[in-house]
Parts: sequence; C-alpha cells; structure tokens
Amino acid sequence: MSKYNFDQEIDRKNTNSYKWDNPLYEGLDILPMPVADMDFRIADELTNTISHINDHGVLGYSLVPETLKRAYQTKIKESYDWDTQIEWQVWIPGIVPGLTLACSTFVSSEQSILTPIPVYHPFHLVSKWVDRDLLTFNMVEKDGRWVYDFIEFENQLKKNPGVFLFCNPHNPGGTVFTEVEIERIVFLCTKYDCMILSDEIHSDLQLQTSQKHVCIGKYISNELPAITFFATSKTYNTAGMGGAVAIIPNAKIREKYNKHIQGVLPMLSRHSIEIIQTSLTMNNEWLENLLIYLRNNHELLLSFIKQIKSLKMLPLEATYLAWIQYDKEILCDFQQRLFTNGLHVLRGDQFLGKNFIRVNIACTKKSLEKALLIIKKTIDEAH
Ligand SMILES: Cc1ncc(COP(=O)(O)O)c(C=O)c1O
Repeated sequence: MSKYNFDQEIDRKNTNSYKWDNPLYEGLDILPMPVADMDFRIADELTNTISHINDHGVLGYSLVPETLKRAYQTKIKESYDWDTQIEWQVWIPGIVPGLTLACSTFVSSEQSILTPIPVYHPFHLVSKWVDRDLLTFNMVEKDGRWVYDFIEFENQLKKNPGVFLFCNPHNPGGTVFTEVEIERIVFLCTKYDCMILSDEIHSDLQLQTSQKHVCIGKYISNELPAITFFATSKTYNTAGMGGAVAIIPNAKIREKYNKHIQGVLPMLSRHSIEIIQTSLTMNNEWLENLLIYLRNNHELLLSFIKQIKSLKMLPLEATYLAWIQYDKEILCDFQQRLFTNGLHVLRGDQFLGKNFIRVNIACTKKSLEKALLIIKKTIDEAH
C-alpha cells in the first residue's frame, strides 16, 4: 500500500491559487480544470525540504550547487540516455522566461519564430512579446496520434525562421515524439540551419508504459545551435516554485545566452534549488503512484468520451492535459456552456486550435467524475 493518497480532497481555495482563486469564479461554484498544475499534495520528502528551510529561517541569495548540477546530469543520462556535460547547464527561474529570452537573443528582427499549432500558448505569444513574426504549421491526426505535417513543416523552414520551438511531449495533445520523428525534425532543421529550442518539461509524465521520452538533444550535432529545457516542476507539482535548466552544448550559444540573462532573469530561490535537488534524488514512490493515478483518470475520461458522438479525443501519450474536439454545429461555444454549468476548462483557441477544449485531469477521481457529469449535462442540453 502506498503512503500517498491521491484521492484526498484538498481545499485549495483562498491560497492565492491561480487555478482555484480565479477572479472569474467570484460568487460562483466553479470546478476549475484550466491551468496546468495538479490538485495533489507533494511528496513528503519535498514538504520536509521546505520545513528544513523554514527551521533555518534564512532566505538570502542562493547558488546552484555542484551536487545539483551533477544530479541533473545523472537524471538526463539515466532517464533519457543523453550524455551531457555539467558546463552545458544554464540555470533559469522558469522555462517560459528561458524560451522568451532565447527568442529575443537568437532571432534577428528580420527573422521569425516557427512553431507547430495547436501549441502551449507562450509558444505563439512569444512572437508578440519579442516583436518577431510567427510561422506556424499544423499538427495532424495520424494513426490515433497528433503528429507533424512534415511537408508543411519543411515549407515553413524554407522561409528561414530563426528558431523552431519544439514541445516534447506536446502540449496540448500529449504526443511523445518517436526516435524516427525526432531524427526527421533534426534532419530538416539542420538542412535549413534553424536553431532548435526544445521544451521537455512534461518528459516524465508518460501515460503509456510502452513509450519512452526521447531527448532531441541526443541527436543534434554540436554545430546546430540548440537549447533543451528541463524542469522537475511539472512532474512533482512544484510549478509555483519555478526553476529549470537549459542544456546548451554549443559554447558560443551558451556564452551569448548567459550574457543576455544578466540583469534580466532572477537567480533561483533557495526553495527552488533545494526542491529540485530533492525531486531528483528522492525515491520514485510518489511519482510511480501519481502516474498510476493519472493513467486511471485518463482511462476514465477516454471511455466517457468514446460514448459521446459530439466529442472526440485521441489518447494522450503523456501529460495530464486532455485535448478534446467537439462538434461545433451541436455544441457552439462549448467552453462557455460548460462554464455556465460550473466547469472551467480552457478554450482551444488559446492554443490556436479550433473547436477544442483543454481539460486538466490532474485532479481527484471524484472531481473528474463531477466534471464528466457537467459535460454530460451540457451535451444533453444541446441536443
Ligand atoms: C510545455 C510547457 N512548457 C512550460 C511550462 C511552464 O514552465 P515554467 O513554469 O517553468 O515557465 C508549461 C506549463 O504548463 C508547459 O506546459
């Protein structure tokens, strides 16, 4: 028996939670399933780490210790079989600021940013933030997975974008890219000399036991500029603490990136450093049980969706962010209808996807069942 109980209902209201204390919910009874954090209590080792810092009571500036750098190097080798060097690591407070800074640093004002769509919204919004043009290509359904349209991808690469933003596993849609797909991406980016920025924050949230995360960095030669971003924050539900690492094998790129970080990105907090260190070195019990729980939630959702004609969902390979297509003729603005009935999910438009909703299923089974009842009621009302 696990000591972890993911069925435990934890009241997150009045904790300044972005998810639960959304001002949109003022005076309403809303079940929130938007932003990507989990409703679960973190592992005991992590609460102990926080208690230990509290007992000490000093929160000055912190260094990333060699032990943590080595722990991440070991993690990347053991989990993804990629040999990296410690000096390739650049520590940043979060992946989104890290990606944004990479775009402003490496994409000239004449160049553009390339991303597949639909995609995690900062991947397309970043073009506005750094004032560069955006190029996109569509993900398409093939053999029950969301994959790249490689013809469209290559057509966009011909326009000479400064960077290609790779999200692996993909959010939303949950694709875990295969070795063959990754080799093709690397081949095309090399052919058109396009830098790769790879966000692998969801790499340990694998829902299919038959699949494994493949790191693109392992396939990129040192000549092609590339940055791979990792974090433990999604996996261990410490997103609010931040902290991430950028792996930059090419020394010139690393030097330039480090220079641009100065005075822009803050140092990591003592909390985030020690939380990441504990996440990487504690035993796997919490994560193993989390994955079992998420897989069960995923199965529950999938079998529910299968029974509803006006909804469609491809199985997620990773992440806890379900990407559900709806019949616009019947359900019109489905997201708004769900909200009216007490369920908040994200509109597909946010990710540049049409007629989709994105649903965060990292919640208790009880909450998921409540959400399914609201979805059912909303669909019944529309028929
Ligand atoms: C693909 C992806 N990258 C990055 C982030 C956020 O990363 P950070 O909090 O380190 O900026 C998220 C959060 O949902 C995400 O889904």
